[in-house]
Amino acid sequence: MSRGMDFTIRPATLEDCKDISRMLLELAEYEKVSDQIKITQRDLEQDGFSKNPFFHGIIAEVPEHLKSKDGHPKIGYSLYFYTYSSWKGRAVYMEDLYVMPEFRGKGIGKALIAKVAQLGLAAGCTQLNFTVLDWNKSSLDFYLKQGCWDVTSDLGYHCMRCEGDALQHMAQGDH
Ligand SMILES: CC(C)(COP(=O)(O)OP(=O)(O)OC[C@H]1O[C@@H](n2cnc3c(N)ncnc32)[C@H](O)[C@@H]1OP(=O)(O)O)[C@@H](O)C(=O)NCCC(=O)NCCS
Repeated sequence: MSRGMDFTIRPATLEDCKDISRMLLELAEYEKVSDQIKITQRDLEQDGFSKNPFFHGIIAEVPEHLKSKDGHPKIGYSLYFYTYSSWKGRAVYMEDLYVMPEFRGKGIGKALIAKVAQLGLAAGCTQLNFTVLDWNKSSLDFYLKQGCWDVTSDLGYHCMRCEGDALQHMAQGDH
């Protein structure tokens, strides 16, 4: 449902990487983690649009006459990839979901997550997984409203990570 707002959701292409890179930074600023971003437009081009892509993307776009104040017709995106649950089988992981502030509350975020769900179901997935920062109450509310539940509070799962030197040491069996 577009609620009067004229927008389209379509698969991302190589040419979208510049805008994905821009919005990815906007999302990181919103999440107060800009200092963590190492990804460049070039990385996105290589990792998403070469022979064995590490991720897929979708773009929300508005017609030229509705573009953002600073001139962008590409105003939202989601990145996702396929994973596997040893309990439930095929799963889709949503890495990012973002709608530019001036376009929020018009059904675009809902249309983006619906598209990821459709693509996951079509690929035989039974789960959609993602993380959300604990203070991001408005997004948490949005997800709860879409029928999602909190795996950390309900099952006690924590996200774990190993990177940088620790990952190198792990690979060498140094720990
Ligand atoms: C979360 C986000 C993607 C939602 O996109 P959006 O386009 O504003 O949401 P929609 O207009 O599609 O809203 C869909 C539904 O969720 C509801 N909703 C949206 N924001 C909500 C909020 N903050 N609290 C409760 N409900 C909310 C809407 O009322 C609507 O409900 P309805 O269909 O019953 O009317 C967007 O706000 C965003 O980009 N936020 C910042 C980035 C972010 O936090 N991303 C998630 C990182 S994990």
